[in-house]
Amino acid sequence: ETPQASGPDVRVERDGGIAIVTIDRPAALNALSPDVLRALHAAFESLAADGSAVRGVLLTGAGGRAFVAGADIRAMADLTPEQGEESARLGHRVAGAIEGLAAPVIACVDGFALGGGLELALACDFIYATDASTFGQPEVRLGLTPGFGGTVRLPRAVGLARAKELIYTARRIDAAEAAAMGLVSRTFADRDALFEGARATLAEIEANAAPAVGIAKRVLVAAAGRRTDRAAEIEIAGFGDAFRTEDMREGVAAFIEKREPGFTGA
Ligand code: CAA
Repeated sequence: ETPQASGPDVRVERDGGIAIVTIDRPAALNALSPDVLRALHAAFESLAADGSAVRGVLLTGAGGRAFVAGADIRAMADLTPEQGEESARLGHRVAGAIEGLAAPVIACVDGFALGGGLELALACDFIYATDASTFGQPEVRLGLTPGFGGTVRLPRAVGLARAKELIYTARRIDAAEAAAMGLVSRTFADRDALFEGARATLAEIEANAAPAVGIAKRVLVAAAGRRTDRAAEIEIAGFGDAFRTEDMREGVAAFIEKREPGFTGA
């Protein structure tokens, strides 16, 4: 693994086509200060600039106690309403950079994923977690509301009623409950098993046609929350785009010729 970009609070390591982005501010349980958010944004922008060299990303938190315990509460204490909006906008920009990356991003949660931390995980393509993890949107306990996408993506993940219950109660749930409601895709006994599982999933994805995976992600992100007719148009355009790729010709030819496809990513 080679370090790629390093800021004070966010590390990016590369291992072949896989990038591991680690939020490394354990003294504050990896809370998302404006600096951390800017570093995260820069990290995902730099991965996007690497184009097809990046086939998958694991996003995680350092220190063994938290993925991310939320937006930085101390940094919000004295904000004006306008500055509050601006801080939410910064969180949304990070979520947009994650969703805008063609390669899939798996949130690897080991510990607390609360408030802005859960919202960050929800911006990833899916969430894997250790059994020791806990999830929640505790904002209303602080007099705040979810600001980094919780009211948008949590209902999509778990349904409107369950999202309302989690947000209004500020209740923390464990990984098993989060998995039962579809918030977490898979749970693991410990951190090593979590990363082994996430890497195995990325390897499965890597065996497929990269342009198709990228188009599928783009369509899924763009169609989310849209009316059926608009979502269908987005899907139709994406389906057409796949026909522009060499990998589509190769994948279909390989099926017809009863052989393994040799994808190039083109
Ligand atoms: N912001 C800033 N600092 C934080 C933090 C946060 N979100 N979460 C934890 N920390 C800091 C603590 O202040 C503490 O620092 P000090 O040692 O300097 O006092 C350190 O991290 C360790 O935390 P605790 O001592 O509190 O650890 P604990 O084991 O007793 O409790 C916890 C762990 C239950 C996660 C608790 O830290 C906690 O409740 N954190 C806040 C969770 C939260 O409310 N998150 C939502 C934030 S608002 C938000 O995210 C808005 C949005 O949608 C954008």
